[in-house]
Amino acid sequence: MIRSICGAPRALGKCGLATVMALAAWHPAQAADTAAPHALPPLLAGANVAQGQKFYTDLKCAACHAERMMGSTSAMYTRPDLKVHNPKQLLAFTQMCVTQLNHDLFPEEVKDIAAYLNQTYYKFK
Ligand code: HEC
Repeated sequence: MIRSICGAPRALGKCGLATVMALAAWHPAQAADTAAPHALPPLLAGANVAQGQKFYTDLKCAACHAERMMGSTSAMYTRPDLKVHNPKQLLAFTQMCVTQLNHDLFPEEVKDIAAYLNQTYYKFK
C-alpha cells in the first residue's frame, strides 16, 4: 500500500523519504491502535479515526470511488495522479467529496474522515 503511493514519478523524492520514515515508525502494536493521536499530522490532531472510519463506511465513500477505479476501493488513494499531497489538501478533498454527497457534516467530522484516510492511505506526518 505504501509502495503504490509512490507510483507518481514527480512525487518520488518526497515519497521515498516518507516511506522510509513510515517504515521506521511502523510497529505492530501501533498499527493495531488506529486511534493513536501522535500518528496524525498537526492539522488533523485530535481527530477521532474510528469515528472517521464509521462515517466513511456509512456514507459509502468507497462505492463511488470503486465505480471510477475499476472496482478497487483503494485505488483512488494510490493512483499515479494523486490529487492529495499534504494534510491540507486531504482535508479539502474530503470536504469536497462530502459536499458532493450532499451531506452536511461538522468540520470536526470531516476532520475525522480525513484522519481515517490519512491513517489508512496517505500516512502524512
Ligand atoms: C459521487 C462520487 C463520489 C463519492 C460519493 C465520493 N467521492 Fe471522493 N472522489 C470522487 C472522484 C471522482 C475523485 C477524483 C477527483 C479528481 O481526480 O479530481 C475523488 C477523490 C477523492 C479524494 C482524493 C484522492 C486523491 O487523488 O488523493 C479523496 C480524499 C476523497 N475522494 C474522499 C472521499 C470521501 C471521504 C468520501 C465520502 C465522504 C468520498 N470521497 C465520496 C468521487 C466521489
